[in-house]
Amino acid sequence: MERIYMDHAATTPMDKRVAEAMTPIFTEVFGNPSSVHAFGRLARQYLDSARRTLARSIQAREKEMIFTSGGTEADNLAIIGTAMANRDKGNHIITTMQEHHAVLDAVQYLEEQGFHVTYLPVNETGIVSVDKLKEALTDETIVVSVMYVNNETGVIQPIEAIGSLLKDHQAMFHTDAVQAFGLLDIDVNREGIDMLSASAHKINGPNGIGVLYAGDDIAMASMQFGGEQERKRRPGTENIPAAVGFKRALELAMEYKLVRNDVYEQYKQTFLEALANHNIRYYVNGDAEQTVPSIVNISFPGTNVETLLTNFDLDGVAASSGSACTAGSVEPSHVLAAMFGRGDERITNSIRFSFGAFNTIDNVSEAADRVAEIIKRLTNERRQET
Ligand SMILES: Cc1ncc(COP(=O)(O)O)c(C=O)c1O
Repeated sequence: MERIYMDHAATTPMDKRVAEAMTPIFTEVFGNPSSVHAFGRLARQYLDSARRTLARSIQAREKEMIFTSGGTEADNLAIIGTAMANRDKGNHIITTMQEHHAVLDAVQYLEEQGFHVTYLPVNETGIVSVDKLKEALTDETIVVSVMYVNNETGVIQPIEAIGSLLKDHQAMFHTDAVQAFGLLDIDVNREGIDMLSASAHKINGPNGIGVLYAGDDIAMASMQFGGEQERKRRPGTENIPAAVGFKRALELAMEYKLVRNDVYEQYKQTFLEALANHNIRYYVNGDAEQTVPSIVNISFPGTNVETLLTNFDLDGVAASSGSACTAGSVEPSHVLAAMFGRGDERITNSIRFSFGAFNTIDNVSEAADRVAEIIKRLTNERRQET
């Protein structure tokens, strides 16, 4: 039985071309980029070149890119680092109920430190309201964090409208773009974004490296101490092979962006049509228009998440019920709870399928056939029990 990976929003397979770009660096470019000698200077060239490519992709400047260990650290540093450094300007933070835990847990930590946090609701289609954000803003607000694309539903948030609302406000606008970077056209200037997080392993790059874009003028406290790297905001010797891999992954993502988006849209339609052809009852969660083609979140009435995921896995289909961090424990999705309310059935019967490099039209329709058979079996069993 062929195993079919439909969980690219959790992580992606590394592209062979990325591995090829990284391999010689491990042994040949071993200098410390902080060293002044030729070995160090060579390492610095690779690091600077990676930083330049990442910066250009979002119309930022090279010096505004801070390498981190991934999306989680970038989110933490953006939110906690700026909140701590700007305490004299206010103690209010705004975010949304549907953020990734890398943001939610960071703001919860700040609450424990005495900051006041507003959690904005989202509507039934998973979109945050710019008007509600406007109402929540006060003279004390110092950070606003709204994700670019939701990792469970794929819904795209009104980032440019939020950026323009905050243009004349002191609050710094952070967006967790981990699910958007390399997939959508991002321009931090046009969209009024002050800080942006991204991660390499979501775009067929290596694990363990991410980046935080933070505008030059932003006061940010470091959460680590010990060196001058990354303009003192993230001290520690840089990971050159990973930076090179991140650069190569981004280049490939940009080169194939349009084609990939078309292909993923085809996968999504093929998958949904196949389910419909099998007469499966389902609902797609999240806005039908404002969404990335690579993620589809589907509710199957009369089923439950744990049983579905176990049966999918037994039949070789890898999907998930939400963020990878909570999938092991199958906690109810806080994203769907924010959209539908805590008591809604969809929270207990929804699955996220996400498409990427491991998929083909054939394995997507094969996955849909397997999923359909499982749903039929489980709903029949349930009918017989009742
Ligand atoms: C929206 C979002 N933010 C942050 C993260 C965390 O990124 P990383 O795994 O690189 O720490 C993820 C990963 O699932 C994500 O989807």
